[in-house]
Amino acid sequence: PDADSNEFTLIEYAGRNWPVFPGLSQRLEEDLAQFKARPDDTWIINWPKSGTHWCWEICSMLVSGKAELLQQSKLTAMYPEAVGNAEIEPMPSPRVLNTHVTPDYFPKEALENSKLIFTVRHPKDVAVSYFYHLKGIKFYQYETGAWAGYFPVFLEGRGENGDWINHTESWLSVLDDNSNALVLKFEDLKKDLRKEVQRIAEFLEVSGTDEFYDEVARLCSFDSMKEGKTPGPDIWRQEASGFFRKGITEDWKHHFTVAQNEEFNRRYRETLKDTIHTKKIGY
Ligand code: A3P
Repeated sequence: PDADSNEFTLIEYAGRNWPVFPGLSQRLEEDLAQFKARPDDTWIINWPKSGTHWCWEICSMLVSGKAELLQQSKLTAMYPEAVGNAEIEPMPSPRVLNTHVTPDYFPKEALENSKLIFTVRHPKDVAVSYFYHLKGIKFYQYETGAWAGYFPVFLEGRGENGDWINHTESWLSVLDDNSNALVLKFEDLKKDLRKEVQRIAEFLEVSGTDEFYDEVARLCSFDSMKEGKTPGPDIWRQEASGFFRKGITEDWKHHFTVAQNEEFNRRYRETLKDTIHTKKIGY
């Protein structure tokens, strides 16, 4: 694609764009529908680029009681929509699973019985982070893509995972009043990770020592997680920064033009006024 192109490789299914996972429709319709949830499963649910790896490491340490980083390779194998039940079912409990699907595809049993953590991040930062994700991962074929080309795609919900507001609103409305659910903000993790680690532990009904939580927070800092993690050469382009790019808030300010910011604000104000739950997040 040329520099302003907004074309990257996706597949269309059920009226939406999805990543090119082989066998995706079967995984959505069969594997997720037949998924056998366990009460000690923890799910990390979100629109991508909202702290999936971060929360996955934190939760994995908390539920196992072991303060060690498990590496992203294991996380990649924890999406039922990407790998299917055959890979996930044999995993020993307690499992920490991930999903980016909308609630209509999420296993009903898990909604009732498992622990659900929904992570949200400011949509302007999500857009920027996702732009680098698209450029960096080989199979999107978006190496030369430019921010100007991607911006309208995000705003109009034309990329994979659909529209950020719809996704967020539909999840928050399903999780509202669900005592098995915790909503975490990326910005709060960034502001005081130690405090959030303890809050997550309480939600997961884990009882650890202060020293254990200190160690979890230390290992899950951005620098610690980035250290030694070269992007997987099979997925990421060599020059890409992989899943640990900058790890900051408000990076959007380095990308949005004044006009883009105004357009974004206008569109979000209009759409958010009809939302009940997303507005409360305070973005
Ligand atoms: P940036 O691209 O803005 O750097 P996901 O895991 O959902 O794909 O999200 C990836 C984003 O979370 C990236 O954002 C990444 O840098 C950030 N991230 C991952 N681990 C982090 C950590 N320990 N601290 C802060 N940000 C982190």
